[in-house]
Amino acid sequence: MAFISIHSNQSNCLWPFALVSIIVVAMGSLSDCYDPLDPNGNITVTFDTYQWEDDGYSAKVTIQNFYQYRHVDQPGWKLGWIWAQNEMIWSMKGAFATKQGNCSSFKSDMLHSCVKDPEILDLMPDSSPDQMTDGCCRGGLLDAWAINPSKSFSSFQLKVGNLQANSFGTAPLNLTLMAPGLGYTCGPLLDVNPTVSLDIGGKRQVQVFRTWKTTCTYSSFIAAKTPVCCVSLSTFYNPTITACPLCSCGCRSADITTEICKRTSSPLTNDVQSDPDVVKCTDHMCPIRVHWHIMSNYVDHWRVKLTVTNYNYHKSFLDWNLLVQHPGFSQRTTIYSFNSTMLPDGFRDEVALFWGIPYVNAELISTTEDELGSVTTEMLLKKDMESFTFSHGWAFPRRLYFNGESCQMPLPDSFPTLPNGAVFIFAQPPHCLFLLLTYLTSQALLVPWL
Ligand SMILES: *[C@@H]1O[C@H](CO)[C@@H](O)[C@H](O)[C@H]1NC(C)=O
Ligand SMILES: *[C@@H]1O[C@H](CO)[C@@H](O)[C@H](O)[C@H]1NC(C)=O
Ligand SMILES: *[C@@H]1O[C@H](CO)[C@@H](O)[C@H](O)[C@H]1NC(C)=O
Ligand SMILES: *[C@@H]1O[C@H](CO)[C@@H](O)[C@H](O)[C@H]1NC(C)=O
Repeated sequence: MAFISIHSNQSNCLWPFALVSIIVVAMGSLSDCYDPLDPNGNITVTFDTYQWEDDGYSAKVTIQNFYQYRHVDQPGWKLGWIWAQNEMIWSMKGAFATKQGNCSSFKSDMLHSCVKDPEILDLMPDSSPDQMTDGCCRGGLLDAWAINPSKSFSSFQLKVGNLQANSFGTAPLNLTLMAPGLGYTCGPLLDVNPTVSLDIGGKRQVQVFRTWKTTCTYSSFIAAKTPVCCVSLSTFYNPTITACPLCSCGCRSADITTEICKRTSSPLTNDVQSDPDVVKCTDHMCPIRVHWHIMSNYVDHWRVKLTVTNYNYHKSFLDWNLLVQHPGFSQRTTIYSFNSTMLPDGFRDEVALFWGIPYVNAELISTTEDELGSVTTEMLLKKDMESFTFSHGWAFPRRLYFNGESCQMPLPDSFPTLPNGAVFIFAQPPHCLFLLLTYLTSQALLVPWL
């Protein structure tokens, strides 16, 4: 009887290992479309019609990034659509259409754009003040919602003309968002309740005439990006370092003596001095590596050193961010050299988001011949005596994302293991240790009986 109950309880102590294996296997398949770490993430595009003109309307377009940890990087967003009728754009503020097109039928060369499928870009911050509006002109960059909500949107204004007689206008069709490059899919613009805002110091509510809205969601499958990031692990209790999985982001060429490798299949050009595709040659070939090192073990804390290395020779990251999922973040955590926040609950383990501190390590610089570009922090995590253990890979992160892209993890069977014998000293949570002791004691007591 006693035996059976001890056995079943013991298998309870193995759940962290089972969990890690399941999560690692699920990681690849879950990384597309639906993201369990950011289930409500999207970019919302809103057209607010706020004023009628002779044959058209004025509208304010807002692109709001609701993704917690996915930002829109250089060269910024590009918004496109197809006019439902014969609309054209009289003028625009805070952004511009890339093509003016053929406006000759309107007998004016002052029109902004007469193309059927305009493509809109944000202005740069140094544009002349009379072309600017509130919330414009950041070169199309949008910060992640969890990091900097005040810079997570762009807006611009346009005057639309040439509506059909007696028409109140029709929502543009086939909205596309490059942010930047492929990856986002947008639904149709739909009529929703008009946007309401506050006036006169918040005492009066005003509303626009009409609002059209859609959401765009990201899929790494559509973006068809090769992986850009991998994870390596090490600990104070085992001298073995678990490297990034071989060929995580591509395989290096057979010639292992070279220092400079190219990520895409196109051959190395002579212009390696500026080619943005060249990285330092490694066995994983990832431009970004994240290293998780378990530094030390105290009575009620443990310490981790986290390092992000940039192997690009000619590409630095101005606003990098790193997302780490680890159950240890449910406890009080001290982060020394990065800004950080916890994401709202989306999954069973806690998720921490890290980013640089302005003027200190906000920029992850590129690698040079002499030195690797990197940012690093140490962190002190409190132990939850119920769950904390060094065994079965519990202390390693479950998943990591760099700038919103999932990082390739080593398989659990290659994780650094505890030295034999050390297991019973600090590896087991206290209740498991107690069970094991009971088990061993009962074993010993049984021996004379046999
Ligand atoms: C888009 O994100 C916002 C904010 O998280 C959320 O309220 C909204 O429901 C999302 N929309 C969709 C269609 O997921
Ligand atoms: C521009 O549009 C006008 C009127 O629709 C048309 O007559 C003219 O051929 C067009 N020009 C070009 C270059 O397409
Ligand atoms: C707009 O999208 C619909 C559905 O995806 C497609 O059938 C249609 O051809 C598109 N219109 C244009 C003008 O590209
Ligand atoms: C990050 O940390 C720095 C310094 O601690 C602080 O000034 C800054 O406001 C923080 N937040 C952001 C969004 O960078």
